[in-house]
Amino acid sequence: MDGKAAPDAVAAVDQARQWGRLMEMAEFGAIPGEGVNRACLTALDRASRRLLLAWGAEIGLAPSIDALGNLFLRQEGTDPTLPPVLTGSHMDSQPNGGRFDGIWGVIAGLEAIQALREAGLATKRPIELVAWTNEEGGRFAPGCMGSMAYAGYRPAHAWDEVTDAEGMSFGAELEKHLALEAHIPRRPLGVVEGVAPFAYVECHIEQGPLLEAEDLDIGVVEGIQGSRWFSVEIIGRSDHAGTAPVSLRRDAVQDMVRAITALNALMYDPADVLRFTVGRVEVSPNSSNSVAARARFSIDCRHPDAAVLRARGDAVPGVVQSAMRGCSASVAERFNALPTAFSPMICQVVEDAARAQGMGVRRMQSGAFHDAQFMVPLCPSGMIFVPCRGGVSHHPSEYSTPSQLAAGARALTAVLAELANR
Ligand code: HGY
Ligand code: MN
Ligand code: MN
Repeated sequence: MDGKAAPDAVAAVDQARQWGRLMEMAEFGAIPGEGVNRACLTALDRASRRLLLAWGAEIGLAPSIDALGNLFLRQEGTDPTLPPVLTGSHMDSQPNGGRFDGIWGVIAGLEAIQALREAGLATKRPIELVAWTNEEGGRFAPGCMGSMAYAGYRPAHAWDEVTDAEGMSFGAELEKHLALEAHIPRRPLGVVEGVAPFAYVECHIEQGPLLEAEDLDIGVVEGIQGSRWFSVEIIGRSDHAGTAPVSLRRDAVQDMVRAITALNALMYDPADVLRFTVGRVEVSPNSSNSVAARARFSIDCRHPDAAVLRARGDAVPGVVQSAMRGCSASVAERFNALPTAFSPMICQVVEDAARAQGMGVRRMQSGAFHDAQFMVPLCPSGMIFVPCRGGVSHHPSEYSTPSQLAAGARALTAVLAELANR
């Protein structure tokens, strides 16, 4: 492809319109420091989706929703019977998140589709914009529930009993959410009658420093490292902080500290490639003068080598049990996504499209997980990265410039024009 397939459509990408939409979306869940806290299946989430639906309706996109709440906006093709090209990302954010993670991929997809329409460039294949449910896993762990269920990686009701910090279950919140969006036409979940999408391309900020450091415009993402999530619960006994002899205590916090210390040793990597994070800790009764009866903590472990991820992850339960001094511990695996390689064809189409527009391009891996990785078994899939300031993400200071994001949307526009006419 010469990447010139859609010069008028690429030219129709409107940087100000895309930026304005992003800033409007950032109002839903705005937090100090120009950040966003917009958890999935909340009123804020639904408000942002209503705005997306309104923008889609303005340009004639047909909405639909599936049993996991994945939201689709369809641009019909000249041959509606052909499998569509999908693009999109997620609209939910981390609790202390930024204005671009996820939502830019959805807005970029809308911008690309609108630019194709404004350039009068009809495509043979339909193009569907998708907003996946619960990519972040911040409210309900794990992440990527919508895309995993769509791809058949896990059954649709696998997470019904998962609860958030307030004890609300994912299943009940999803049911409420679907009832509140019952006006949106329902579609079957996942691949229907064996007809998978033709291709999937997701735009996302890099959430790392490489593109900015090398002053490049576009990252052609060749793959994603593997991720494993565990939740650990340690049960001890509450006691009086002033009277209970330490030697007789079953202190859940002290055993949690021992477990995390032992896990740090297990996960130590002198090359600093392995990523080990304990990001969530809950203590009960969480009182300064009561010995902790229960402690829960999360484990997020990532590595590009499946063998390393398997070896270190499989050792977690034993290391936790060995660290117990009087308490009991239970370890549950919540997420297990192997390292994933994207389609060489998609990578080539992305690289050709970006280079044809004179953009600086490199091939790269993703340290963050994304919905795109679950599309790989279904259809040729890939991702387009743009730089973000200092590589910072999952923080209110997350930032990409209007022109960096417009370059990403222009690359996506050319990629969609190419794929949707194959
Ligand atoms: O955690 C991740 O990798 C993604 O940003 N949710
Ligand atoms: Mn994301
Ligand atoms: Mn994220």
